[in-house]
Amino acid sequence: MTVHFIGAGPGAADLLTLRGRDLLAACPVCLYAGSLVPEGVLAHCPPAARIVNTAPLSLDAIIAEIQAAEAAGQDVARLHSGDLSVWSAMGEQLRRLRALGIAYTVTPGVPSFAAAAAALGAELTLPGVAQSLVLTRTPGRASAMPAGETLAAFGATGATLAVHLSIQNLASVVADLVPHYGADCPVAVVWRASWPDQRVVRGCLGDIEACVAGSMERTALILVGRVLAQEGFDESCLYAPEYDRRFRPQSADSVYRDSRE
Ligand SMILES: C[S@@+](CC[C@H](N)C(=O)[O-])C[C@H]1O[C@@H](n2cnc3c(N)ncnc32)[C@H](O)[C@@H]1O
Repeated sequence: MTVHFIGAGPGAADLLTLRGRDLLAACPVCLYAGSLVPEGVLAHCPPAARIVNTAPLSLDAIIAEIQAAEAAGQDVARLHSGDLSVWSAMGEQLRRLRALGIAYTVTPGVPSFAAAAAALGAELTLPGVAQSLVLTRTPGRASAMPAGETLAAFGATGATLAVHLSIQNLASVVADLVPHYGADCPVAVVWRASWPDQRVVRGCLGDIEACVAGSMERTALILVGRVLAQEGFDESCLYAPEYDRRFRPQSADSVYRDSRE
């Protein structure tokens, strides 16, 4: 018996990996994490599958479901939104499973920051503008931030920021970032990226609160950075005609000339 942790993707049912789909179809039990996992994804479960929404359950109750499946010799598909590597609560479940000696696998999913960037048609790392992307959040009711992981500290680097779980804190996000990025720095807020009712609001740090005007809650991502202007950046060296590289040696004495296979 194995528990298969599967990233369900950001919302659109067809942004599930083929491996995730096949595992879902093979598991007689599916535990899924509440409102962010779309029904279209659950449609891949076998018709007679036991499908449990774990949103109202405690960790103990979730583990009890898994132990019941183990006793019955049934594999479990464990679905979480987006990818499992960020804000999925997978870590604490894996720790319990390791202690119980229950086998598991992990199948990645499309994270929400990638779906939001796709909605914007944006590359979040542009040459000469930003070469780092920080996935972060602001403190929530149940989650304090570790000391040092402040927006101001990340903002001091000038990196592109993808601020999760924070639309309710938009005013403080703006206040923390204006000193580092400037009021004219582009911002985009993407609500329910990839869902049929996806919404995008673009603005700058100086006016994004007015642009959003409280119209979005919960499932929104705040992207901040000069990359969102999409102008005024260098082209990458990789495709420059004169750039000497393994797959396109530029001269007879290129170090790459004889290294191709
Ligand atoms: C509990 S976290 C889950 C993150 C998820 N594991 C991922 O890979 O993106 C939920 C937060 O992710 C962001 N989020 C998740 N799905 C989203 C979507 N479809 N559109 C915009 N933001 C989303 C929001 O910031 C939301 O508050």
